[in-house]
Amino acid sequence: MAYERVARLTELPAGRGLCVRAGGLEIGLYRVGERVYAMANACPHAGYPLHEGELEDRVIYCAGHGWPYDVETGHPPDAVGGEPLPRYPVDVRDGDVWIDVASPLD
Ligand code: FES
Repeated sequence: MAYERVARLTELPAGRGLCVRAGGLEIGLYRVGERVYAMANACPHAGYPLHEGELEDRVIYCAGHGWPYDVETGHPPDAVGGEPLPRYPVDVRDGDVWIDVASPLD
């Protein structure tokens, strides 16, 4: 485990993501209620940065062409099979957001 501090919790905007860099990767952070999710930031369709999309509950809608991704599963909400977007463990300590890009979630 190699957690890196990447943001303050208060920096995460409502209804959008926050782009951070960790371990040479660009990651989108999303706050949904009391939870924070970290997911690879490039949209698989044409590479738009997903954090610029609109977040509704756990679904981020890409600003490019509207493809939706569940930030917890990494899949489109109605997907059957396929590879999810990489997601990473998140820890919030004393108002700081830490992520571990060396240990992607399954
Ligand atoms: S680049 Fe994301 S939907 Fe097209």
